[in-house]
Amino acid sequence: MTAYVYNTASSLDGFLADEADSLHWLLSQPIDEDGPGSIGAFMPSVGVLVLGSTTYEWVLDAEGGAWPYDVPTFVFTHRDLRAAGDDVRIVSGDPADHRAAIERAAGAKDVWLMGGGDLVGQFARAGMLDRVTVAFAPVTLGAGRPFLGAALDLDLVSLERNHGFVMATYDVVGPLAPPAAGA
Ligand SMILES: NC(=O)c1ccc[n+]([C@@H]2O[C@H](COP(=O)([O-])OP(=O)(O)OC[C@H]3O[C@@H](n4cnc5c(N)ncnc54)[C@H](OP(=O)(O)O)[C@@H]3O)[C@@H](O)[C@H]2O)c1
Repeated sequence: MTAYVYNTASSLDGFLADEADSLHWLLSQPIDEDGPGSIGAFMPSVGVLVLGSTTYEWVLDAEGGAWPYDVPTFVFTHRDLRAAGDDVRIVSGDPADHRAAIERAAGAKDVWLMGGGDLVGQFARAGMLDRVTVAFAPVTLGAGRPFLGAALDLDLVSLERNHGFVMATYDVVGPLAPPAAGA
């Protein structure tokens, strides 16, 4: 069965990018590309990519305008963006409205939710988030693009180290319960 996996890197204080959408603090960190928690080890399980327009445009800019992934990709935007690859689909609205198409495209593989945090929060609220894998970089940013826009209860299932990164994987238990009365 297809799992929805949010796999990303974060500052220790929960930001995906700084306020200027820069990842300089992340890309400057030493990491073993074949080591624990690497994207290379994760990629064979991925049948579909899902991302918001800011992340899409960031990747395109970094790759000189060419889309670097060969799996079907769903880009969420309200704008009329250019599809930069053969199977890049420009979509908008509630994730649930795209569930059938996403899972059809993923086949027996999983969905990589690349971010950002608000879009992944929408997926979580639609019941379309099963696992969170995060590489915590050894920095704090103080401000920036938030990690995840939903309050969730998580179950830690693995924890590894890759140079300065803490690689953690969590199963999503469900929405975080509200506080008990008087708590
Ligand atoms: N640390 C990491 O490993 C990592 C991973 C991923 C991303 N990043 C970075 O983190 C930052 C994330 O930025 P972000 O949180 O602003 O964004 P994002 O999710 O990449 O993009 C936000 C945009 O997605 C569109 N969108 C979101 N939900 C939508 C919906 N339901 N329907 C239609 N469009 C929808 C809107 O675009 P429109 O304005 O076009 O309508 C919205 O402005 C970026 O700088 C990215 O490069 C870092």
